[in-house]
Amino acid sequence: MATVICPGSFDPVTNGHRDIITRASGMFENVIALVVINVSKTPAFTHEERVDMLRKVTADLPNVKVDSYYGLLADYVRESGAAVICKGLRAMSDFEYEFQMALTNKKLVPEADTIFLTTRSENMYLNSSLVKQIALFGGDISEFVPPEVLGDISARLCAPNQKERGEQL
Ligand code: PNS
Repeated sequence: MATVICPGSFDPVTNGHRDIITRASGMFENVIALVVINVSKTPAFTHEERVDMLRKVTADLPNVKVDSYYGLLADYVRESGAAVICKGLRAMSDFEYEFQMALTNKKLVPEADTIFLTTRSENMYLNSSLVKQIALFGGDISEFVPPEVLGDISARLCAPNQKERGEQL
């Protein structure tokens, strides 16, 4: 059974992430949407919150399972037996970073390959950092995140201690 892993920090999950996971679920028998640590980023949401949000937005996709891992993606891939890692590509600006990770993961776990799905044009400009900034200052993020998690994100970021949170983004 072909399994694909869609990894990310999902801080928070956006329409772009959901689109990539949905499209992967149409191509593979099993999809694991995996919350992993990006050591270059300080997350605004806890690991558990991100898993919870991802579960909400994939609840209607029966072949998608959500999991989380504190470690190397390559180790998880090997342990799960998955043959494919799937990532979204928005623009050329993503390419170098994604290519570097794909090549590194190929070294670490040669039995798996990374594939890329190009983003839909409406999600090209979208990323989690922008969503956080907009929400933090009370802007409307309803066009950028799945409706199932709109309330969670707004409630969490539009808090009275906005300034402190802004310093973390
Ligand atoms: O959504 P992101 O933050 O762009 O995803 C990057 C992520 C989390 C997939 C990447 O940082 C990752 O794989 N982290 C797990 C730790 C790891 O394996 N690092 C080496 C990557 S070659």
